[in-house]
Amino acid sequence: MSTREAKFKDFEERVKAAELGGGIERIEKQHKAGKKTARERIDYLLDPGTFVETDRMVVHRCTDFDMDKKRIPGDGIVTGYGKIDGRLVYIFAQDFTVFGGTLSRTNADKVVKLMDLAMRMGAPIIGLNDSGGARIQEGVQSLGGYADIFYRNVMGSGVIPQISAILGPCAGGAVYSPALTDFIFMVKTSSYMFVTGPDVIKAVTHEDVTKEELGGAMTHNSRSGVAHFIGEDDESTMIMIRELLSFLPSNNMEDPPVKPGSDDVERVDEKLQNIVPVDPNKPYDIKEIITTVADDHNFLEVMPHYAENIVVGFIRLDGKTVGVVANQPAHQAGVLDINASVKGARFVRFCDAFSIPLVTFEDVPGFLPGTIQEYGGIIRHGAKLLYAFSEATVPKITVITRKAYGGAYCVMASKHIGADVNYAYPTAEIAVMGPDGAVNILYRDKIKDEEKSRVVEDYKNNFANPYKAAELGYIDEIILPKYTRKKLIRALEMTQNKSVSNPPKKHGNIPL
Ligand code: HXC
Repeated sequence: MSTREAKFKDFEERVKAAELGGGIERIEKQHKAGKKTARERIDYLLDPGTFVETDRMVVHRCTDFDMDKKRIPGDGIVTGYGKIDGRLVYIFAQDFTVFGGTLSRTNADKVVKLMDLAMRMGAPIIGLNDSGGARIQEGVQSLGGYADIFYRNVMGSGVIPQISAILGPCAGGAVYSPALTDFIFMVKTSSYMFVTGPDVIKAVTHEDVTKEELGGAMTHNSRSGVAHFIGEDDESTMIMIRELLSFLPSNNMEDPPVKPGSDDVERVDEKLQNIVPVDPNKPYDIKEIITTVADDHNFLEVMPHYAENIVVGFIRLDGKTVGVVANQPAHQAGVLDINASVKGARFVRFCDAFSIPLVTFEDVPGFLPGTIQEYGGIIRHGAKLLYAFSEATVPKITVITRKAYGGAYCVMASKHIGADVNYAYPTAEIAVMGPDGAVNILYRDKIKDEEKSRVVEDYKNNFANPYKAAELGYIDEIILPKYTRKKLIRALEMTQNKSVSNPPKKHGNIPL
């Protein structure tokens, strides 16, 4: 063998060693736990053959705890870039088979290098998390590494989409990098996130709780609101990430990708005429309206299991991405509470940061009354939604399908806080409050019970309709439900060159 051949062979062996990570035994253990390896996950996620690995030969520099005798090329994280639907993305995947995927100084440096590249090139970054957290042997160097990543998460926020998938453990301060990103995916049964685990909780608060109950996928998708999506397994989660990215621009200077529609922009749908019940107290599923209106009836719902009284997610209209925010009358009558306000506000801010127009479907009886809400700070949290809609400068189109009462009328992208086009169905009721409540306050002790139903009926006829608001120009047009799709597409076309800047400032002070 010539010297050159020997060098090439040596190189190839080093690559193989790096690709084997923690070795066959640990890979098998990973598979037995129902998990894929870091490299397999990347293969599922990216367009075939597009992955370019960076820093494959990096090893840690730790000498404590005999670590100098244990060095594995790549050091427990696979980093690089590739393509999804032909568009550039940056990706890092923690390799649980190497030191439990824990974060060392060099491991953090690989991520930092990638994040800097992603920012410079203006492309999304995706983190696949599966790690025992800070590498204990490296002490504060590991903590420093985390903080370097957190800082970049914050600097990148609103500049490039940042996506996290939790595919195994994610504990302690390590949770804060995903928490700073735009969307978190979790996988049923194999992933968990918590700041302190069950043992610490038991010692401190004497509570008994399992890992799954404390920080499993459903906990964070339905109770805490930490996660946005839940996948059945690693593979389907990767497909979901691809689907999400198909709606998003690569950075805040680009428009979202356009998917030329197979759906008729003039489509009129008679089904829409009958979705909103005549009885204002009857529920209906707002998602029926959203999917009927959307291109190819396709709606990617974000946080479908959390605060179900508000629905948020992405659709396309005439091939262009639109962010939808909608009250859900099928859940708690679509009332706005703390969780719904925060969920809605965060979604609105994401769309605004990434030039995604907002369409709001409104059917809201108001804010949820009660001490739990008041003590929990509904004033502060409800204000977040108001703030987010007000500061958003992307095109804002609103459709009032039924109730628009009280403060909630103002909050849900009303004309007054900068919506560009406001529609209402003939079934809309736009007033300070519903007929019964209004009559009780206005006529308390002044009318007999027999008279009350007549007065309520009068109020309904005079105020619980869209015409007062339309007379004032607060509603631009009253439309028949069947025309919603084409009306929205026209409105989005009209607003596509919208150019609005809020007053210059360092940043606002959203009521956090
Ligand atoms: C170094 C670690 C490690 C760690 C796991 N390993 N966690 N090495 N530092 N933090 C190693 C193990 O020694 C083992 O090495 C391999 O990873 C796999 O771990 P196992 O325990 O065999 O796997 P499993 O049974 O699946 O359990 C996984 C686990 C558990 C639940 C993650 O390892 C664990 O509880 N680890 C400690 C988690 C933790 O407390 N981390 C610190 C959180 S605080 P071998 O060589 O045997 O394969 C934190 C602070 C961040 O992260 C702060 C940021 C600001």
